[in-house]
Amino acid sequence: MKRLVVVLAAGLGTRMKSPRAKVLHPLLGRPVLAHLLEALGRLEADRIFVVTGHQREEVAPLAEAFGAVPLVQEPQLGTGHALSLCRGPLESEGEAEVLVVPGDAPLLPMDEVGRFWTDFSASRRTAAVVSMVLPDPGSYGRVLREGRFLRAIREAKDCSPEERAVTEVNTGVYFLRSPEVFSLLARIGRNNTQREFYLTDLFALLDGEGRPAVLFRTQDPQAFQGINSQRELAGATARLRAALVESWMDAGVTVLDPATTWIEPAVRLAPGVLLHPFVRLQGSTRLQEGVEVRSFSVLSDTEVGAFTLVKEHCVLEKTVVGPRCLVGPFSRTREGTVLEEGVHLGNFVETKKAALGRGVKANHLSYLGDATVGAGSNIGAGTITCNYDGEKKHPTVLGERVFVGSDTQLVAPVTVGDGAYIGAGTTVTQAVPPGALAVSRVPQRNIEGWVARKKKGPGGPRGGSPPGEGPGG
Ligand code: UD1
Ligand code: CA
Repeated sequence: MKRLVVVLAAGLGTRMKSPRAKVLHPLLGRPVLAHLLEALGRLEADRIFVVTGHQREEVAPLAEAFGAVPLVQEPQLGTGHALSLCRGPLESEGEAEVLVVPGDAPLLPMDEVGRFWTDFSASRRTAAVVSMVLPDPGSYGRVLREGRFLRAIREAKDCSPEERAVTEVNTGVYFLRSPEVFSLLARIGRNNTQREFYLTDLFALLDGEGRPAVLFRTQDPQAFQGINSQRELAGATARLRAALVESWMDAGVTVLDPATTWIEPAVRLAPGVLLHPFVRLQGSTRLQEGVEVRSFSVLSDTEVGAFTLVKEHCVLEKTVVGPRCLVGPFSRTREGTVLEEGVHLGNFVETKKAALGRGVKANHLSYLGDATVGAGSNIGAGTITCNYDGEKKHPTVLGERVFVGSDTQLVAPVTVGDGAYIGAGTTVTQAVPPGALAVSRVPQRNIEGWVARKKKGPGGPRGGSPPGEGPGG
């Protein structure tokens, strides 16, 4: 028997009050739907279909990225309508068990869902529904049960006062036998408050045919709750964030302030990592053992080698940092930065597509873009690679043990040979040979007595010509 999954993800999510489709909202750095699809992957179903509608130009590629097959529901006339659109693709799979899940339940516990699936297969029933008990059942569909069986699901908006008081509700997770259910699904109408085709009406129809769905009640209602509002999204984010931080502490990571530490799901940390309050680790960031990251630093898609210290207020993106480096405070490394072992990068240093060899020091106020710096070189304060000519980017290549004096401009494309020195304030426009000193600054003049003469001159102390245009010495 084939095992198929259908994810209903065509709705806008009106209660989010956002122009962005609900399933695309970020939950700890990745879309709600991405969490769900990754988790569903663990069930090893034969195929996953995703019903798309709102912003399907973004939702469909996301589904495909997880190996799922996107289908289109346009317009969106309700969950029953969404499932009936799957009839063709599902029937062409032959007899199958179909798990239907709402796209807005990103934290579904797949262990339990998998156990329910096993129970469903064994039961040989036409349908099963996962229910949960909520003290405040709000807008969830109410489960009207008789023993183990489901008589009907009533949407909150269509409930009588007695029905509304029921606290057992529909999670929106169903197991259905295909193609059996489709003839009944075709009989669903839209005679309800919202004028929608409710998938949930299927269950009264099944009961009427003497094939009532069996109910499975989850022990973990929180994990089955959908995200319908910004508050619920924030609540789910907070729970997932806390759970991830705790699991890293269990794995030997020291988290000084769990309440303010943000670690996204794909991040990997070695034991012995130390995180200060307000650290944010995003995307595919990886930290080796002994790495310390101090407060207000944000690392995205960045690898950091063992025992490197990232001080306060650093922003590192798509960067590879070697072991035993010192970075920050206030360093900014952008895409394509590679720092080898023992590099020191200090305050207000920005790098982009820059490869800094072993032990390179750039400690203050610099921009290094499209640059290669050989091992042991020292970049003085205020050094700038002028990599952009208004149209194209050009490379700067420095050899090993180069000494770059403060306030140097390296006008790319340009090369500096091994062991060369560049005097402070130099504008380097031509290749510097190995071992040479390059200087381009204007020689200094001292004009003796200039200040006193200026004060005596016409207009008093504030008058006279500005320095540089003043009286010649
Ligand atoms: C639905 C159930 C409700 C259940 C709750 C659990 C119905 C009628 N109600 O309510 O009983 O308690 O889920 O979370 O099914 N969608 C489509 N196409 C549509 C409409 C919706 O693909 O035309 C998708 C949405 O994108 C969403 C999912 O189906 O991911 C559920 O829709 P939603 O509007 O959130 O349903 P609820 O009102 O929460
Ligand atoms: Ca919902």
